Amino acid sequence: MLFVTIDRKSSVSLTQQIYDQIRKSILNRDLEEGERLASSRGLSAAIGVSRNVVLEAYERLIAEGYLEVRSKSGTFVAKGSFLPAKGKTSEYEKVMPNVADRKPIIDFRGSHPAMDQFPRKKWGQLTRDICYEAPDHIFGYAEPGGIRELRVTLAKYLQRVRSVHCHPEQIMITTGATQALRLITEMLIKARTGISVEDPVTDEMRNIFFSAGAGIIPVPVDENGIIPECLPKEEGTGFVFVIPSHQFPMGGILSIQRRVQLIQYARELNNYIVEDDYDSEFTYEGAPVPSIQGLDPERVIYVGTFSKILSPALRMGFVVLPTHLIETFRRLKWFHDRHTSSIDQLVLSRFIEEGYLDRHIRKMRRIYRKRREVLETAVRASFKNAKIIGRAAGMHLVVDIPDIDFDDALAGEIEKQGVRIYPVEHFAMNKGRHTHQVVMGYGSLTPEQILQGVTQLKKFLSTRG
Ligand SMILES: Cc1ncc(COP(=O)(O)O)c(C=O)c1O
Repeated sequence: MLFVTIDRKSSVSLTQQIYDQIRKSILNRDLEEGERLASSRGLSAAIGVSRNVVLEAYERLIAEGYLEVRSKSGTFVAKGSFLPAKGKTSEYEKVMPNVADRKPIIDFRGSHPAMDQFPRKKWGQLTRDICYEAPDHIFGYAEPGGIRELRVTLAKYLQRVRSVHCHPEQIMITTGATQALRLITEMLIKARTGISVEDPVTDEMRNIFFSAGAGIIPVPVDENGIIPECLPKEEGTGFVFVIPSHQFPMGGILSIQRRVQLIQYARELNNYIVEDDYDSEFTYEGAPVPSIQGLDPERVIYVGTFSKILSPALRMGFVVLPTHLIETFRRLKWFHDRHTSSIDQLVLSRFIEEGYLDRHIRKMRRIYRKRREVLETAVRASFKNAKIIGRAAGMHLVVDIPDIDFDDALAGEIEKQGVRIYPVEHFAMNKGRHTHQVVMGYGSLTPEQILQGVTQLKKFLSTRG
């Protein structure tokens, strides 16, 4: 059944309005295949427009195949011109979460930065300046490893703040650390070669390695990070993946003795250490520990990201490579996506060079320290026997509550109360060692949300007895 309504105040022409409504009715199956349409004369009289307007709309729909004319019978909806029936869930709706249906939730997700603190004004100004002033070549295809300005700036920055030793040529700009890790795995792994990975670790990292063809060898961590004595002794493993500055999720900082042991191990087995330095700028007790890369730049592949310091939306990461791996990585990067956005690279380079990054980090360190204190205090006040695990750094901590078994089922129950927490067991490959522990991130939550979240958590857990 066809209903057409006309809006005479609209800037859209009358013909277009009729065309749009009939087309939509056919695609939604409000008009069925083979259904007869009102005559142009009948429709024009019903909606109060001239017949020519209706004829014009019909002719367009006939030309595009939505309608067909049968001689002496009229105009009909053509065969095969509809989408799946209205009411059925489309493939798109099945895979895309319905954002409107989501209940507000206090999400203690680890490593999520404070989105409300992104330096929008300065980033916007720099982007505008670059669009007006940058030379034309910036708007063309660029070097796969990244634009020179950013690599030079980064080399100086990394030397100053992380004791990373490198020439700008050793730096490859990537679309997030995620892409860097994917390409490193592709570069170093032959069919299902095992790589040593800290256990527990984020499932995202595991998935990156596995999908790039690696087998995963879990190596346990304690409060000081990965335990080198537990590394596999045989040759043939691709690399050791470590997060030495603030292990995720357990929060350990790898001691210098273990760093040295790792390098000796890599030298003996002729493989590499891949160092993920994703949130080391945020340390709240003492100074950040320098990178492992600085100890042996030919054995350590250093991976960094601006997702935590600035925003994951930028998709800006990088890798610092031993010199003999530069060319292979460069080629792989080209095949993946040619290069990361040069305009954003230039903005980032100016942002660092003109001192805004240092300022932003100082500000964020104060904000995150405060959020961490609020969380620690609230947890200790609410759960008398709770222990906080991990060094005061980054954007998350681990809480150990001896009389509670945290698992995905309990996390699901807690989520129904409007709070999302992350059991450490979820991240563990060898199960059973972290049953009482839960990851709580505070980066993207205000102090008020943190307090509300802990209160709700306590209320729910105490009702379980
Ligand atoms: C351990 C770790 N490293 C790095 C990243 C950053 O990845 P990306 O730079 O692709 O956003 C994440 C993301 O959450 C992470 O958990």
